[in-house]
Parts: sequence; structure tokens; C-alpha cells
Amino acid sequence: MSRLFEPLTLRELTLRNRIAMSPMCTYSCEARDGQASDWHLQHLASRAAGGLGLVLSEAVAVAAGGRISPEDLGLYDDEQVAPLRRIAKAVRAEGAAFGVQLAHAGRKAGCYRPWDPRRGVVGGADGGWPDDVIGPTAAPFGDANATPRALDGDGIASVVRAFAAAAARADAASADVLEIHAAHGYLLHTFLSPLTNARDDGYGGDERDRARLLHEVVDAVRTTWPEEKPLFVRLSASDWVAGGWDVDATVRLSRSLADRGVDLIDCSAGGAVPGVQIDAHPNYQVAFAERVRREAGVASGAVGAIADPLQAEAIVAEGRADLVLLGKALLRQPYWPIAAAKALGAAPPWPRQYAWAVG
Ligand SMILES: Cc1cc2nc3c(=O)[nH]c(=O)nc-3n(C[C@H](O)[C@H](O)[C@H](O)COP(=O)(O)O)c2cc1C
Repeated sequence: MSRLFEPLTLRELTLRNRIAMSPMCTYSCEARDGQASDWHLQHLASRAAGGLGLVLSEAVAVAAGGRISPEDLGLYDDEQVAPLRRIAKAVRAEGAAFGVQLAHAGRKAGCYRPWDPRRGVVGGADGGWPDDVIGPTAAPFGDANATPRALDGDGIASVVRAFAAAAARADAASADVLEIHAAHGYLLHTFLSPLTNARDDGYGGDERDRARLLHEVVDAVRTTWPEEKPLFVRLSASDWVAGGWDVDATVRLSRSLADRGVDLIDCSAGGAVPGVQIDAHPNYQVAFAERVRREAGVASGAVGAIADPLQAEAIVAEGRADLVLLGKALLRQPYWPIAAAKALGAAPPWPRQYAWAVG
């Protein structure tokens, strides 16, 4: 019996298995209006047809200024709801649940997409917002990034409101799961990490004050995101830097997030500061998910260099995580769950339309 292919119930949602698509930006809103296009529809729905339990969207910005690139998805405008609802419907039609990852890119916002030969910050004349990038302090991520404006009290309140409003729009788009992106050096992570937060007001200083913004965001989101739907938070469990955010802090934070109505901690790592060498060997982040699950009393998700079915099965069977998230493996092989089911002796989740081809 495969444990990877056992259903997972969180609140009133049951996933058909424990395999999720990890959020991955595709920088593909060509109209730069934050609206999902046919690209996003086929990209996400085809992974659902591949047999996933949960398809998580790429980072969806809660404010126009919170997009990593001008081509990112957004949920800061009501016009952005209907195109996402179309995707949610298509994903569910293939048997998977659909989740939206809400994000604010903070001091990493407003950059050219990775394949653009121009590098760094998009200029104002080219549709960028280099003078309207925000962060906990006025320190840029790196030489190629804009210098952010340190958020004042009103700015912080408007970020909290933006997450809550975007959560309401995700519900209007009929998403089944919401994930708050508090990892990878984006706005919420930069408040958490001592490497990037040098504030001396109630939003900086000790660990509890650095977590204040994320706590406020979670509390606000829980008022607009329905009680019966699961809420995830993605954390960078370690900055991979001595003196940075670490897994002990992650376990403590996870406990407080669970108390506030978070159902699963998605355990990623890194991204706060540049120049960090990461050894991304198989399972390199799984220990974070294991500690959160065992010590914080909340479900966890493991992500990072998971590509082999037996590897994914062992993570769940050994109780190291409740959910396995796949990134690049699913870009290479959209039908990964079907192949994994065959390898693990489980019933492959073929779309019924393909029954004739099943061997
Ligand atoms: C092209 C690409 C885009 C990504 N975009 C996001 C994103 O929008 N949000 C996020 O939390 N992580 C993002 N990630 C990180 C992945 O979700 C995942 O955590 C990481 O790739 C490690 O998993 P993997 O080894 O299975 O790829 C991205 C990764 C890739 C390769």
C-alpha cells in the first residue's frame, strides 16, 4: 500500500494523494495585467491531468508593486478573479484541488523576467516601479535590485489589507487552498529574518516582533478566507547563514501559526541574502518539514530536489511530511504522479479519457 497515494484531509478538503505542484513563477502575463492567460490554464490543468492531489499556482501578487516582474499574476484587482476561476474549474475537473500562493515580492520586486536579456530593475519608462519598491528597511537585496522604501505604519497596514483582500478574491475564484508566501527573501520573509530586518519599532527586534507582520497577515487572511478551507504558509526554514533565521525559530513560529489557524507549513529555505551556496542534494530540506511536523504539532510539506517516486514515498511513509511538493520534476514530467503510481504499485490516476492507452 502506497502512503504517497493515500488521501490527505485538511479542514473540509480531501486531496486524492499527497503530491502537490510547488509554486513556480512563469512570468507569462504578456499583457502585464496580472490576469491568468491560456498559458497558465494549460500549464496548470495539464499537471492536474497528470494525477496530482494539489496544484498550487505560482506566486500571485497581492499588490501591483509586489510583483517580481511586470508579467507576474496578481489578485489585487477584481478583474483578475475570473481568469483564475477558469483555471480552478479546469484543475478540479481533472481530480486535483487548486491552491493560490499569495505573495508580495518586497525588495525583490519589479525586475525583468529571467530570460529577458536586460537584467535587474525594470525602469519606469518600461513599465516598472523602481521608486515604489518596499521593504522592512531601506537596504537593497543586491546591486541589481532597487533600493526599497522602509515601510511606515500606514504602509504595513496596507500590506495586511492587501493580503486579506487578495485572499477574498482567491475565494471568489473558488480556490480550494491558500498559501501565504513568507519565504525566499520576499516581503514577509525579510521581516522575519534578522539578516534583513533592522527595524526598532514593534515590527523588528526580537523574534516575536519580527514575526508580527506575518501574524497580522495570517489573522487578517483568516477573516476573509473561509473557515472550512485550508491555509498554508511557506517559510524559509533556514537562511543557510550563521546568525540568520533557523529551523529552531521555524518550529517556534510554526506553533504560533498553527494556533492562528494555519493548517500546513510548507518548508522551503534560503533567499534572504545573496551569495549563499546551497547544496541541493536529494531531500536537502526534508529535515525541516520533519522537525515542524514532529515538534510544532502541525502538518508539513517537504520540498526541494524530490524527483524519485521511492524517495517521495519514503518521506510520507516515514512520517517526515504530510505532503510532498514537486517543482522542477513536474516541469520535466507533467505526468509524474501517474508514473510514480505505477512504480509504487498504486492505481495510476489516469484521466478517464485516456483509458484506451493504459497498459
Ligand atoms: C522556475 C521556478 C519558479 C519558482 N517560483 C516560485 C514561486 O513562485 N513561489 C515559490 O514559493 N517558490 C518558487 N520556486 C521554488 C519552487 O517552488 C521549489 O521550492 C524549488 O524549485 C525546489 O523544488 P524542486 O527541487 O522540486 O524544484 C520556483 C522554482 C522554479 C524552478
